[in-house]
Amino acid sequence: MKKNIIVLGTQWGDEGKGKIVDILTKKYDYVVRYQGGHNAGHTIVVNSQKIILHLIPSGILHNHIIAILGNGVVISPKSLMKEIKMLSNLNISVKNRLFISENCPLILDYHVSMDLAREKILGKKYIGTTGKGIGPAYEDKVARRGLKISDLHNTNLLVKKLKNIINYYNFQLVHYYGYTPLQYELVLEELLKYQNILIKKIKDIPLILHKAYCSNKKIIFEGAQGTFLDIDHGIFPYVTSSNSTIGGVFTGTGINLNYNCYVLGIVKAYCTRVGSGPFPTELKNDIDIHLCKKGKEFGSTTGRRRRTGWLDLVLLSRSIILNSIHSLCLTKLDVLDGLLELKICVAYKEKGTSKIFKTPFDVLDWKNIEPIYEILPGWKESTLGITSISKLPSQAKDYILCIEKNIKKGVFIDIISTGPERLQTIMNVNL
Ligand code: GDP
Ligand code: IMO
Ligand code: MG
Repeated sequence: MKKNIIVLGTQWGDEGKGKIVDILTKKYDYVVRYQGGHNAGHTIVVNSQKIILHLIPSGILHNHIIAILGNGVVISPKSLMKEIKMLSNLNISVKNRLFISENCPLILDYHVSMDLAREKILGKKYIGTTGKGIGPAYEDKVARRGLKISDLHNTNLLVKKLKNIINYYNFQLVHYYGYTPLQYELVLEELLKYQNILIKKIKDIPLILHKAYCSNKKIIFEGAQGTFLDIDHGIFPYVTSSNSTIGGVFTGTGINLNYNCYVLGIVKAYCTRVGSGPFPTELKNDIDIHLCKKGKEFGSTTGRRRRTGWLDLVLLSRSIILNSIHSLCLTKLDVLDGLLELKICVAYKEKGTSKIFKTPFDVLDWKNIEPIYEILPGWKESTLGITSISKLPSQAKDYILCIEKNIKKGVFIDIISTGPERLQTIMNVNL
């Protein structure tokens, strides 16, 4: 059995990663975020109480866990402090157990202004970002001009760097986007407010993880977003600005191939997407209303209604290859309860021709494809809270078999989630 585990989304995010990381955490020592920022919204439900984490890893609810933000994570100090406070109100302390890489880029107010200004200017072609400043913060890192959390160590230098960068952004905001300029003093004041708390959390993360690995500790790497929002492998430009596929684990934490990782792909029993961009199996009918209502498909970060559609195995197969997925966790199976008929997309067809696509790589024009479906009977019974596969209605078992039959040989659905609570889970694997 592999020692460490990578949990990542195989679709467009919101697959239920937070719930699964939380329940796996029991047997692990460290939970590490490696990319994204507070655009993520990971929900954990404990005894009907809903807790949404945006930046802090989902293992934090377990006292024994060390939570880590790797260098690939972009950090809004404001958002992080808000989350720490939210946890503290629940009597969960992050003291001496939340550590941050010195190389994490900072998200500050000018990134948020730029994000919003850019979306506005795109008009109908807007990406539908979360408006949290994620894209501009990653741009700053790649452009080698942004502030990192380690800049908090030297206040004099920080003041100079911040002044320069705010000038740079204000010029664009005022002269190109027609926005009001940001006040440097206010941004600095807020940053200095958090300076001492944040500095105490800065650690050499690659070294901590190396030591953990050498002393046989177990690590979970918690992905944010999903495969098709990946900046390189997603459906560009309708993507986020980080690598949500497996490579992000290495570049975003400083670990390497020797860490012996098991890759668990999280897949929702249907598809959802927030924001713009192609969605081949999208539904705009009563079934969309069923999925949205029963699945409570409203964004955990922005509250936006999620678009819904049938499960897409062309995309899932691509995700399995891209991420070297060992096994899958199928979530929200219970949301399909009560549907008369279910569809699973097994290929795409070019409209008006007989050309079939089995991989999204071949699709040149997303507007010109239509899904080919396998149609299966639905089930009337409730699957909510079922904990054993033998108790599932036979049609639900057939639905699962149909997925396994149409994806890479040897990849199986080892975990099935039948509700938002921890115990509403079927575990067919000992991780
Ligand atoms: P994440 O971003 O991948 O962690 O997912 P989100 O938390 O954004 O969205 C998943 C939503 O589905 C949350 O509201 C979860 O509480 C909920 N959820 C997770 N698993 C299940 C499940 O098996 N059934 C139902 N009905 N809800 C679930
Ligand atoms: P979790 O971790 C779903 C989407 C946004 C938008 C695109 C770019 O909860 O699964 P950004 O603000 O990142 O520049 O927006 O990515 N997006 C998500 N969609 N779940 C997420 O995170 C997302 N994080 C970003 O809606 O389409
Ligand atoms: Mg989410």
